[in-house]
Amino acid sequence: MIIETVDHATVRAALELACRAPSVHNSQPWRWGLGQSRVHLHADLHRWLPATDPDGRDLLLSCGAALHHLRIALAALGIRVDVHRIPDPGRPDLLAVLDLSPEPTGATDLESARAISTRRTDRRPFSSWPVPDDYLDQLTERAAEQGALLRVVSDASTRHTLEEAIAAAAEVQALVPGYATELAMWSGRHSSVDGVPAASAPPADERREGPTMRPYTGGEPAGPQQDPRDAAVLLVLGTSSDDRLSQLRAGEAMSAVLLYSTTLGLGSSPLSQPLEIGSTRMVLQEQVLDGTLSPQLVIRVGWPPATGPVPPLTPRRELADTVTPLPV
Ligand SMILES: Cc1cc2nc3c(=O)[nH]c(=O)nc-3n(C[C@H](O)[C@H](O)[C@H](O)COP(=O)(O)O)c2cc1C
Repeated sequence: MIIETVDHATVRAALELACRAPSVHNSQPWRWGLGQSRVHLHADLHRWLPATDPDGRDLLLSCGAALHHLRIALAALGIRVDVHRIPDPGRPDLLAVLDLSPEPTGATDLESARAISTRRTDRRPFSSWPVPDDYLDQLTERAAEQGALLRVVSDASTRHTLEEAIAAAAEVQALVPGYATELAMWSGRHSSVDGVPAASAPPADERREGPTMRPYTGGEPAGPQQDPRDAAVLLVLGTSSDDRLSQLRAGEAMSAVLLYSTTLGLGSSPLSQPLEIGSTRMVLQEQVLDGTLSPQLVIRVGWPPATGPVPPLTPRRELADTVTPLPV
């Protein structure tokens, strides 16, 4: 009998792509265990940001994004994956076990796989071109495929409530002990394998309109805005419960939405501050998601400005620093 095994060079190539996933402060809080036909995804609690993310929600979302990136990359490279999420309550850092087999699934999303290498968080004001409703519907479908709801905040009053909550969260968070230190430690970087580079920070001066952006260190003053109006759309990702499994799945949905936005040519940036503060998370739950769902993340999408430098791709750690062999 011939037992077919998966090609390890291919799995490593997929893991490289998985590590391109977005993560809070580019902390890359994941570790991989690599076996013959199996990959383990672990949360790396040494990379948890307790002042910014006291509940560990952002950490779970970040790992969920890496999991979705890996699923997409493996499928595109012809490897079938069976995923067991949060498989062992006695090992809370073990978030997923992926069983791999060398037969293709047929369910490949090549466009999203290609988008992994070009997606980036874009914190610039977006252009005045409206995002077509049809595109927003497609993003909503992508989130639903991953078991999450994406609420498009289209009416002016809910948008106002959401922007107020984002601004309030930023004010409260600025006073949280350790928050400013964490932000300073993890941003404004010039040559580092993690953290938010100075070149990716939002403009240093007040944006003319739109939601408050997290004030990462290093932003340059914005040049004159090309378009008088930033037509960015705000989306709120929600799940039916708020346990660790839901947060992991929300990260997978976030990844699906961000990658698909990239394939559509849209710019995007996650905004997690209102979820990191209990009082504003309640506002999102009660007044944006009508009390029925647990909010997990705000995502801003829009058409990037036609001119000016595109934010660079952010760096990642060496794959070797994130992978350990699984015991045979
Ligand atoms: C869970 C999560 C929360 C995030 N929160 C914010 C945020 O509040 N503001 C922001 O500008 N970027 C936020 N980001 C974007 C990260 O800073 C970004 O993904 C990281 O720096 C890597 O850069 P890249 O997305 O360009 O690859 C968040 C990302 C994740 C996954």
